[in-house]
Amino acid sequence: MIWLGHPSSQERDVLAAAGWDLRVIDDPHGARIGLRGSDRVAALLDLRHADAAWAEAMRALLAPHSDLPLVTLGHEELQAGSLLQLSEPLDLVQIQKLAQIVDGERPLCGSKGTDCLVGSSTAMLAVHASLQKFAPVDLSVLVTGETGTGKELAARALHEMSARRGRSFIAINCGALPANLVQSELFGHEKGSFTGAASRRIGLFEAADGGTIFLDEIGDLPLDAQTNLLRVLQEGTLERVGSHHSIRIDVRVVAATHIDLEDAVAHGRFRQDLFYRLDVLRLHMPPLRERGNDVELLAKHFLAEFREQHRVRARGFDASARRQLHSHRWPGNVRELLNRVRRAAVVSENELLDASALQLQDATSAGDGLDEVRVHAEREAILTTLRDSGFNISECARRLRVSRVTVYRLCKKHQLELEALRT
Ligand SMILES: Nc1ncnc2c1ncn2[C@@H]1O[C@H](COP(=O)(O)OP(=O)(O)OP(=O)(O)O)[C@@H](O)[C@H]1O
Ligand SMILES: [Mg+2]
Repeated sequence: MIWLGHPSSQERDVLAAAGWDLRVIDDPHGARIGLRGSDRVAALLDLRHADAAWAEAMRALLAPHSDLPLVTLGHEELQAGSLLQLSEPLDLVQIQKLAQIVDGERPLCGSKGTDCLVGSSTAMLAVHASLQKFAPVDLSVLVTGETGTGKELAARALHEMSARRGRSFIAINCGALPANLVQSELFGHEKGSFTGAASRRIGLFEAADGGTIFLDEIGDLPLDAQTNLLRVLQEGTLERVGSHHSIRIDVRVVAATHIDLEDAVAHGRFRQDLFYRLDVLRLHMPPLRERGNDVELLAKHFLAEFREQHRVRARGFDASARRQLHSHRWPGNVRELLNRVRRAAVVSENELLDASALQLQDATSAGDGLDEVRVHAEREAILTTLRDSGFNISECARRLRVSRVTVYRLCKKHQLELEALRT
């Protein structure tokens, strides 16, 4: 992306998350646009701070490159030669449109729109950026995060964004496999290999050949199955139960856990060598309460999705609902939000859903004393604002309308380690 103008740090983040490299030209004088071989390039003319002379000079610079897809930012009406008029704030949805224009299809997430990971908070931009980096390489990915944060959705997105899209994606809940059948479910068995094995059976790994296998709740995998899985990862071969013939298979493994695997390793419940094999690339799904305004975006998204399939009156959220969406702690994360929105949409008679329809009116204070709620809210406010301002203390202080000293003091009070958070 050749950006003619001044991108903000948020805009730089959005572009990076969507997989764009950025080159900035802010002064038209003496600048040159050079294109390399097969690079896919788009130009963005940023007219937000432009005067007429500057805009004209930039247009002159662009003139010899009329085949460059050009988009403009910061004017109401569509500008001459511009394929797309972007508006502020620049978000992932607009960048996706841009990608579609530049190269037909390069899905940011799943091929179906509903597979998309909704969110443009700093925390989710980091997730999108990791997905972009991890998808094309064939290494194992370990997805961590609390329940309902979208671990499975992220694994699917990874598959859809990889060269394996179009091949099978098989999701297995390791905790739900009956202990005596784990091996044969995963790796298959030969006829007569154990009582009940009436015929040969292909295991899930063989069925996923060429594609991606998603091992959910990997921490629940029994130790003997862990040994076999390690072998599949190390050697790329498996043996069906009751057979000594090894079969070559090619699967990418994405594993997920909401328990602390390092801790399971320390207690001898999980093989350390397997842990290292799985934990090559790490994708952490942040809890919903750390995603700032994404909670509203998601609530609107889920309501709109529900309205497409059902006749409901509800078409939005009132102020009390929006307040509670932000202050609720979301222990069940995105899944909890999804279920609350659907339930409210069915039950409510109103066009605007309120806090009581979401059953959130007292949720915040239930259990906690008011002081605890305040302390919690303060911590969340600091953390979210720090993230949203790129851990820039002055910016954070400005947004919260406090002094920089106060920001430092509050970080200390809430044990927020700036250095650790920044990495
Ligand atoms: N960013 C998102 N945008 C849209 N939908 C989402 C997002 N994150 C999660 N969801 C939806 O929330 C629900 C829960 O997501 P998912 O099953 O991927 O979570 P999980 O982390 O695997 O949960 P668990 O730990 O309980 O297995 C799904 O219906 C999923 O489609
Ligand atoms: Mg899951």
